[in-house]
Amino acid sequence: MRPPLPLLLLAAVLLPLAAAQGFRGFSYLLDCGASARTTDSRGLRWDPDAPYVSAGTSRVLDLPLPGLLDPTLATLRSFPHRPGAKFCYTLSVDPNRRYLVRPTFFYGAPSPPPPVFDLLVDGTFWTAVNTTDDALAGAASSYEGVFPARGRNMSFCLGVNKEYTDTGPFISALQVIQLDDPVYNATDFRTSAMGLIARTKFGSTGSVERYPDDSFDRYWEPLPDSKHSVSSTHNVTSADFWNLPPPDVFNTAFVAEQDAPLVLQWPPMPLRNDSYYVALYFADTLPENSRTFDVYINDYLFHKGLNVTSSGLSVFATQWILSGLTSVILTPASPSVLPPLINAGEVFGLFPLGRLTHTRDALALESIKKNLTNVPEDWNGDPCMPSGYSWTGVTCDEKGPKIRVLSLNFSSMGLSGSLSPDIAKMTALTNISFANNNISGPIPNLSNLSKLQQLHLQDNKLFGSVPQSLGTIKTLREL
Ligand SMILES: *[C@@H]1O[C@H](CO)[C@@H](O)[C@H](O)[C@H]1NC(C)=O
Ligand SMILES: *[C@@H]1O[C@H](CO)[C@@H](O)[C@H](O)[C@H]1NC(C)=O
Ligand SMILES: *[C@@H]1O[C@H](CO)[C@@H](O)[C@H](O)[C@H]1NC(C)=O
Ligand SMILES: *[C@@H]1O[C@H](CO)[C@@H](O)[C@H](O)[C@H]1NC(C)=O
Ligand SMILES: *[C@@H]1O[C@H](CO)[C@@H](O)[C@H](O)[C@H]1NC(C)=O
Ligand SMILES: *[C@@H]1O[C@H](CO)[C@@H](O)[C@H](O)[C@H]1NC(C)=O
Ligand SMILES: *[C@@H]1O[C@H](CO)[C@@H](O)[C@H](O)[C@H]1NC(C)=O
Ligand SMILES: *[C@@H]1O[C@H](CO)[C@@H](O)[C@H](O)[C@H]1NC(C)=O
Ligand SMILES: *[C@@H]1O[C@H](CO)[C@@H](O)[C@H](O)[C@H]1NC(C)=O
Ligand SMILES: *[C@@H]1O[C@H](CO)[C@@H](O)[C@H](O)[C@H]1NC(C)=O
Ligand SMILES: *[C@@H]1O[C@H](CO)[C@@H](O)[C@H](O)[C@H]1NC(C)=O
Ligand SMILES: *[C@@H]1O[C@H](CO)[C@@H](O)[C@H](O)[C@H]1NC(C)=O
Repeated sequence: MRPPLPLLLLAAVLLPLAAAQGFRGFSYLLDCGASARTTDSRGLRWDPDAPYVSAGTSRVLDLPLPGLLDPTLATLRSFPHRPGAKFCYTLSVDPNRRYLVRPTFFYGAPSPPPPVFDLLVDGTFWTAVNTTDDALAGAASSYEGVFPARGRNMSFCLGVNKEYTDTGPFISALQVIQLDDPVYNATDFRTSAMGLIARTKFGSTGSVERYPDDSFDRYWEPLPDSKHSVSSTHNVTSADFWNLPPPDVFNTAFVAEQDAPLVLQWPPMPLRNDSYYVALYFADTLPENSRTFDVYINDYLFHKGLNVTSSGLSVFATQWILSGLTSVILTPASPSVLPPLINAGEVFGLFPLGRLTHTRDALALESIKKNLTNVPEDWNGDPCMPSGYSWTGVTCDEKGPKIRVLSLNFSSMGLSGSLSPDIAKMTALTNISFANNNISGPIPNLSNLSKLQQLHLQDNKLFGSVPQSLGTIKTLREL
């Protein structure tokens, strides 16, 4: 087995607690398919999703007792089943920040079986969504990821994968919440994104801890255990942590029995052999106290001689290899007389950020799109990426150092409007077809497209002569 990668120790830093009044920066709470704003039991306001998405139709679930349901789950947006198409929400974001992204899916009925589809964020493949088991249990399914902004827009997309099912994707709610700079900042978000596996509040018998206790509406799931649970007799108030866990997670803990290690099978599900981000949170439940112990994950020493005080600390590893079932083991270490304890933990899977289309090509395509009407529903998000999810009619070269657009086949799409001169900026183009549409206006100067081989503009309402400059393109073979 590979040895675990570097481990960082992070002691609590004293900082004044900022008053949490709503979310800071760009944050979106979208109630998909809804026609009006709703407010949930936590006082959070959810907006209709229509301004952020151009495809799909809304559906109101036919439920016997809609009053019992989270109001955001009563409607959904569903998209057509068109293999290879992606349907995207476009959200403006701060390019220097990272975001918690949490879509929720509730199909309403277990039969017919719910569709299975892909989640994509910008050029990155995130995961496949399979809500079958949750639908059988009558429950909603949530996925949570942390992604960096890749520009001024973030695209969150549902991708139709023909390998899965033959019904189109759907979504009930979408949260995109800006995180403060220190949160999860040990991860290198230039190359990776994270998908949540578990976020647990040990020893709690209460409900899921969320907003407003957690400033970013992260969900801390309670994990009760009558044998090991204790509650705190003091508040962890003056401490602050990079990941900003809510102070209440320190009110409960699992404590080992005297002179015995605490063995915790956590997270509860087997994991794929891969690299994970692990954060563990500790605070002595007795006031002005401290205790020392060693932390192991499976057979590896995670931290030796951890001195946990009443003001708390967290330890984390940014790339820890896990496989199958995981055991977290806390063993007493001298000089401690008190047994080890643990309050909370988070585990994320790490996955690589996808590449993006060369900016110049992507901007030129946006400009072409702006000057046309009746464009395909999937012309949103990155034009080429992720692989297999390029815009309808767009073919790309992903092999080079830059991802370039090679051909545009927009024939017979029922397009109207004009041809943006920015098409001449897509200098890697070899083939262009706008044949058999309803496009009017002049033909732009294409002489910069030095690799052009094939140009089809017939059966439109274009006027003016074919620019003579086309004669200078040596590769052009078909006009
Ligand atoms: C996990 O994968 C690595 C290679 O990536 C391999 O060396 C190791 O043996 C695997 N571990 C298990 C438990 O399968
Ligand atoms: C961002 O999205 C808006 C709305 O869809 C669009 O008008 C704009 O061109 C996009 N900006 C970039 C840089 O892609
Ligand atoms: C979705 O999950 C169900 C139940 O776990 C499984 O039977 C089915 O094969 C899965 N579908 C796909 C496409 O993975
Ligand atoms: C994370 O944020 C904390 C608090 O702002 C800062 O002290 C620390 O240096 C940051 N760590 C990294 C790796 O950027
Ligand atoms: C902890 O904080 C809560 C709420 O802020 C307060 O009601 C409680 O009295 C505090 N407990 C102690 C021991 O200070
Ligand atoms: C643990 O930290 C506390 C507070 O900083 C200190 O008083 C105590 O001596 C430390 N214990 C050990 C074993 O280092
Ligand atoms: C593109 O569309 C804009 C707005 O409709 C228009 O002002 C502009 O003239 C169009 N450009 C071309 C080349 O047709
Ligand atoms: C362009 O698309 C049309 C319709 O999808 C197809 O019939 C045609 O073969 C395509 N042309 C090229 C050169 O790929
Ligand atoms: C572009 O056109 C050329 C010549 O007509 C053809 O051989 C080639 O396959 C086309 N390439 C693409 C990507 O459609
Ligand atoms: C074609 O475009 C013209 C305007 O340029 C418009 O009047 C006409 O309705 C369009 N036809 C179709 C079939 O879209
Ligand atoms: C087309 O663009 C090229 C390169 O910018 C330029 O040299 C040429 O004069 C232009 N032709 C016309 C007809 O404007
Ligand atoms: C062609 O490219 C040159 C150099 O990048 C640029 O200056 C010129 O404006 C472009 N011409 C057209 C018609 O796009």
